[in-house]
Amino acid sequence: MEDTLKYINEKTASFRPEIGVILGSGLGEFADEYCDVAVSYAEIPNFIKSTVQGHKGRLVFAEISGKKVVMMQGRNHFYEGHSMQEITYPIKVMKKLGVKTLILTNAAGGVNPEFKPGDLMLITDHINFMGSNPLIGPNDSQFGERFPDMSEIYKKELIEIADTSAQKLGIKPQHGVYFASSGPSYETPAEIRMARTLGADAVGMSTVPEAIVANYCGMKVLGISCISNAAAGVKGAQKLSHQEVIETTNAAKAGFKALLKEIISAV
Ligand code: HPA
Repeated sequence: MEDTLKYINEKTASFRPEIGVILGSGLGEFADEYCDVAVSYAEIPNFIKSTVQGHKGRLVFAEISGKKVVMMQGRNHFYEGHSMQEITYPIKVMKKLGVKTLILTNAAGGVNPEFKPGDLMLITDHINFMGSNPLIGPNDSQFGERFPDMSEIYKKELIEIADTSAQKLGIKPQHGVYFASSGPSYETPAEIRMARTLGADAVGMSTVPEAIVANYCGMKVLGISCISNAAAGVKGAQKLSHQEVIETTNAAKAGFKALLKEIISAV
C-alpha cells in the first residue's frame, strides 16, 4: 500500500480526492472529458491490469464542479481470475487517498420486466451471488471491523441527491436491487427467474465486491446501473453479447454523463 500511494502521490502532486467514481463497461468516456492527470493501472505498484474489452485501465484525477474526484476508467473483475481481495484493492487505495463518497457504475441486464435497455437504475440494495466475499481473510482493522453492518450500503441521502439531479435533467431513473453473479458466462433463463424470485431488478458481474469493501471502509456508496439489455429469458431479451452491452451503454452515455456530473456537483 505504501508503494502504491507513494507512486500515485508523486504522479498527482498529492491530490486529495473526496469523491471516487468507478466507470463501468461503455461508460469510461466520462473521465476523458475531465482528465487533469491520468495514471494507468499497469504502472502503479501492486495494481492489476484491466484486461476486458471496452475498458481502458487507468486512474483519472480531476476537479469537477469544484469537487476533487478520482475515477477508475475500467475496473477489474472476479471473472478475470483475480481474487476478490485483488479486485477491491483500489477501494482501499481510494480510502487512503481521502475518498468519502464512492459512486459505482456498471452495465447490467434488466431482470425487472418493466426495465428497458438504456434505462438508468439507482441501486437500492444488492444480493451477493458471486460465491465469495472480499472481506474473507485476516481483518485489517485500520480499514474496518470484522463483521461490518450492511443495512444501508447505498445511502438514501445519495439516492435522493441522484433523484433530484436526474429530475433537473428530465431523466427518470429506475430504482432496484442489483444481483451480482460471478460471470463470465451470462445467466441462464432459469437463473434469471431465480434472481427475480429473490427480489432482483438487475444483474451484473461487478460492483458488489467494491460496495462491500467501500461500506466496510466507512465510505458512502451510490450505485448506478445502465440497463444494457433484458436479461436472459426476460421479455424482449435476445441472444446476449458483450457487443450489445457496449452499444447500448454507448447510446445511453449522454444522459449518464450529464447525470454523473450533476450528482458530483450536488454531493
Ligand atoms: N448479465 C450479467 N451481466 C451483465 C448483463 C447480463 O445480462 N448485461 C450487462 N452485464
